[in-house]
This record gives sequence, C-alpha cells and structure tokens, in this order.
Amino acid sequence: MDEKARILQLRKELHQHNYNYYILNAPTITDQEFDMLMHELMDLERKHPEMADANSPSVRVGSDLSQDFVQVEHTTPMLSLGNTYSRTDVEDFYNRIREGLQGEPFEICCEQKFDGLSISLIYENYKLVRAVTRGDGVRGDDVTANVKTIRTIPLQLPEDCGCPANFEIRGEVLMPWQSFEKLNAEREAREEQLFANPRNAASGTLKSKSSAVVAHRHLDAYLYYVMGDSIHEPTHFGRLAKARQWGFKVSDHVKLAHSVDEIFEYIDYWDVHRRELPVATDGIVLKVNSLQQQQRLGFTAKSPRWAIAYKFKAERACTTLREVTYQVGRTGAITPVANMDPVLLAGTIVKRASLHNEDIIKQLDLHIGDHVYLEKAGEIIPQIVGVNTEARQQTGEALGPKVSFITHCPECGSPLVRYPGEAATYCPNDTACPPQLKGRIEHFISRDAMNIESLGPETVDAYFERGLIHDVADLYQLKVQDLWGEDGTKARSANKIIEGIEESKKVPFERVLFALGIRFVGKVVAKGIARHFKSMEALFKASIDDLLACDGVGEVIASSVRTFLREERNITLIKRLSDAGVQMCIEEKEMASTLLAGMTIVISGTFEQHSREEYKKIIEDNGGKNATSISKKTSFILAGEGMGPSKREKAEKLGIPIINETEFLAKLEV
Ligand code: IVH
Repeated sequence: MDEKARILQLRKELHQHNYNYYILNAPTITDQEFDMLMHELMDLERKHPEMADANSPSVRVGSDLSQDFVQVEHTTPMLSLGNTYSRTDVEDFYNRIREGLQGEPFEICCEQKFDGLSISLIYENYKLVRAVTRGDGVRGDDVTANVKTIRTIPLQLPEDCGCPANFEIRGEVLMPWQSFEKLNAEREAREEQLFANPRNAASGTLKSKSSAVVAHRHLDAYLYYVMGDSIHEPTHFGRLAKARQWGFKVSDHVKLAHSVDEIFEYIDYWDVHRRELPVATDGIVLKVNSLQQQQRLGFTAKSPRWAIAYKFKAERACTTLREVTYQVGRTGAITPVANMDPVLLAGTIVKRASLHNEDIIKQLDLHIGDHVYLEKAGEIIPQIVGVNTEARQQTGEALGPKVSFITHCPECGSPLVRYPGEAATYCPNDTACPPQLKGRIEHFISRDAMNIESLGPETVDAYFERGLIHDVADLYQLKVQDLWGEDGTKARSANKIIEGIEESKKVPFERVLFALGIRFVGKVVAKGIARHFKSMEALFKASIDDLLACDGVGEVIASSVRTFLREERNITLIKRLSDAGVQMCIEEKEMASTLLAGMTIVISGTFEQHSREEYKKIIEDNGGKNATSISKKTSFILAGEGMGPSKREKAEKLGIPIINETEFLAKLEV
C-alpha cells in the first residue's frame, strides 16, 4: 500500500478507535497500539503535507500554531433558560405548559444541567467545521481549533450513520472532576491561583491561545440540543438518542416524566447522586418533549417557554472563626488561612479554609469570633462566603479584633509587598526566606521536574537545616560522605541519593526549564519554550518579541521569563547547574524519532555494535522506555549474547517478542 492510501486508512481506523474508546467505552486495542497508529499517522502526515486534513484524528494532539479568536454570528441566537431554585416555580412551569397546550397530553424530558460553558457545533458535509462559544448569545468566539482537541466530539461523522450531512448541535464543554483536580494540584505546586470550580477551569482552558494546552487539560463535552428541520424526529428525547447513535456524547440519565411528582422524583434523586457523576452539574433542565408542542409554546425575548432550569442549592454550614494564619509559598506568595471550629459540610469535616488574599478579608470584614458561612466552591474546596453579622449582636459577645492582613513575613520578618494589578501579597526576600528557598528545591526535585525520587521534602528540609544545601545547584556538589552520619542516613541510602542526583543530569532541557520554577512557566509552557529556542543560550538572548513568538507565551509569561533570566543570581545558578552537567539544550538525538513511543523495552545480554548504555540511550532517544525486568507491559526484548535462560523462559511464557541487535537497528534504520 502506498503511503497516501495508508494515511487514509489510518485516519479511518483511528476515528473508529476513538469512537470505541470514548463513546462506547469499549476499546478494541490497547492504548499502546493506539499510540503506535497515531505516531505512524503523524509521521506520514509530516512527510505528505499535501494530504493535510483539518479533521484528521491527529489534530486531537493539539496544534502548535497560536490563534486569536474570531467572532462569529450564531445561526440562531443561543438563548439561556429561565432559572429557579424553587419547587413551586417548577409546579407553576408545569401548570403553564398544561394551560398553554390546552389540556393536550405532554411529556417533560428531564436532564442534567451541566455546569460548564455552552458551545455550538456546526457540521458540514459530515465534518466539524466550526465550534463557537455562546458569547453574548448573538455572537460568540470561534474556538474550533481548541474544540477539536476534545476527544468526545466527533470530527468526522460516518456518512452511513443516518445523520444529515449539514446540521448544528449544541451542548456544554466541561472539565471533568478528575482533570480539574489534577490541574489545580499542578497549579498549587506552581503557586498559581487555583480555579474555583471546573466551569471556570473549562472556560479558561477553552479560551487558551494554544490548543496544545487545551489538549493537555482533557476537556469533555455533553450535547443536549440537536437543531435543524432536516432531522425527521418529532421529539427532543428521540433526537438525543439519534445524536448518541451518531457518535456524540449524550447523557445516559435523560428521563421522560409524565407528572410533577415524577419530575420531583428525578430532581431529588439527582440532588444526591450527582456527586457520583464524572462532571459538575448544578441543576436539572426540564424540556417539553414534543418539538411541535415546543413550537406552539414559543419563546420570550430571553428564553424558551417550553423549558426551565431548576438549580440545586449549594450546601452551607456555619461555624466560628478562631484564628487567621499565614503560609509562605515557594514564590513568596502569602496565603491567609482561616482556622475555624470543625463543622460538617457536604460530607467532610472542615476546619480550615483559604482566604485567598487581602482584598477578600477586607470584603468580608472579618473579625475573630465571627460566625462565618462556608460553602464548597465546585463542591470540593471550602470557602467562606459570608459573615452572620447579626450573630455579633445576638450572642452578646464582644466583637473580636478585626482581621487585618499581616505586614511582615511570618517566616523571615521582611516587610511584605503587593505588586500593582495583583491580588496576592509577597515576601520579597527570595534570597533568604527559608520556605521560599526550600520550596524552590522541593519543586526542582519533584517528579515532573528533575524527578530526583531518592530525595523527598523531609530530606531537603533536613539538609537545608544542616546547611548542606541553600539552592538547587548545591545538590550537585553533595558527596556521599556529606550525607551519612548526623541524620542517621545509612551509606546505602546516601549512595542512592547521590545516584538519583547524578541520574537527573539526563533529564531533558524542557524539564530543567520547568524545574527552575520561573513564575507562570508550567510544564506545557516549558516544553513549548524549550522546543522553540532549543537551548538556554538562545533563551538568554531572546527578546520579549522573540518570546511572544513562542506558542502559549503571552505578555505575562514573556516578561516573567525575561526578568528571571536577567537576574544575576539566576544567571549564576544556571551556570553552576550547567557546569555540573545538567542539560541546557535539546540534544539532537532527543528528537531522533518517536518510533518507539509508548514501548517498554528490556535489554538483556551483551552486544557487538553498541554498548548496553548506548542502547538504553537509543531507546530513550526514540521515545521508548527502558525497563529492567520483564512483565506483561514489556513490548519486546532486545537480546544480545548470553541472555539469561530464566529471562528467556519468562519472555516465552508471556509471549513477548525477542529481537536481536540487527533486527532492532533495522527497525530504527540506524
Ligand atoms: S438547553 C434553548 N440543556 O444552561 C435551550 N441547557 O441558562 C438551550 N445547560 O446556556 C439550552 N445543561 O449552557 C440545555 N441539559 C441542558 C443544559 C443546558 C446545561 C446550560 C446552557 C444554557 C444554560 C441555561
């Protein structure tokens, strides 16, 4: 088969596998096999740019092109729904429909109210051609490139699935709880402001300038409104079922109700069980099922008369504020924390809550001893949302002292500063404030950075206190004999620590860049910058404009990088790291190929053409992983002379291919 035909075949297969995986939840191949096919496709597409297809499954991986959003007018305005928190309003809605339909029987379709941001998807000739946000209802942002990275949204519909060639479907883009928690944990590690809830996170992500960032954050989408007269299906429920058949993600929990009681049953069930759903929902949407009846009921200026949203009340608790303490982070950011009497809120005991910043404390006019209301933002992070000021008089207790933000660092005593336009307060003493120094080292050794697993935060703390390390470059001066002794570290673990530090010298440049802890430079941005500039030397020379030319880098990041690289002590630190052997450029070989991506390879025996160490490097340079022992996960064994019989036996038992040196090199064409 020629390469062009193979591209078409791979695209078809990958679309099918995406469908099996994301919609049917029934993959027929392993993730590894999927990655292999995807890499094959991407390699072939690179070789044949004339075969470019905006809807190839490879666009899911995200493009490196940066984009600004163009505003587009909606085909028909995207209206919102009438909202209510009251059950009486639901009864009134039901009665209004009954009156409006003059006694004709009707059904109400009950569904989840997804808490994300609405999106309109336009398909032309079975292809996704445009995705637009709600915007002001009349015009929205064209976010097509970003939406294409959402794997549950079909890019290409099968022509024989029964769907019209051209139609519009609307729904909600969401960040699943799992992705949200992961993202916030990453942001916490970087001391960036956390997203208060998945909706804000989804919205921030969808507006990102880099679709690679979007792809990394794993958004999802549920569709709930199929539009168009060419679809011959007279009910909303029926249309949802069709959309599901065509390959869209549609909630499985849609139900038809025939009375107000059935509606309340649905509402009460989901008020409790919504916590088991993978995405955030904040209520229930009720829609008249028959489209013909919908038409008769019509619209008001703002919303349809045939639908209403019932919103769940957020759970609240009340407790007493006892103390406000302050934490100093790696970047020097000061976080005020409210310490309260323990209280039960939505299933967990809460006694501490972040107060975020000085302005929030002022807004709340907090006093020690205040009765405060707590809610869980996005159902997980407890937040003080108000103060019961009446309780101040009722309890007759004297009003405690007003909480005012500290003026000096609780750790090093330096006067604190606030930069214009920023909500956070900082301790500026980044050369000597202990939590900042320790925090930077902890970040440097963390898994996504230099991955020095043998060192943990406690060990860093102990070495810091013993005066062995002050900054990350000191790590590379440590000797085994420095480490054993005082804190009881045995020779073996001392050796392991030194080995781990030594090993980190192989960590690729993009992770070194992330490890430096430059403000606003997360993993994805660091990768983009590393690949764009290729070396620290080039990055040192980069102007703001050069930085802005890099995908995912805006004004804030560009100026942060520039400031960091202009500071004398950072220049010295980077020089010391470089002298110690830490990677300061992308090795050509690092980019050799992705032929072994997703594969785990075990090396056994001795070889003629390259040493074992060299083979290890070749595997890594081509995207593979080297493992020491054989398991089910092993892709193949690279066997030389004298491979142990027990290894051979195990490989044969697990059916793992054994290949020799020549075959391996032929595979890579080296
Ligand atoms: S139907 C013409 N169904 O809630 C009716 N909306 O103000 C179109 N939403 O902007 C909307 N889940 O973003 C509908 N199952 C659902 C929904 C839903 C969430 C959002 C949508 C809309 C807002 C209502």
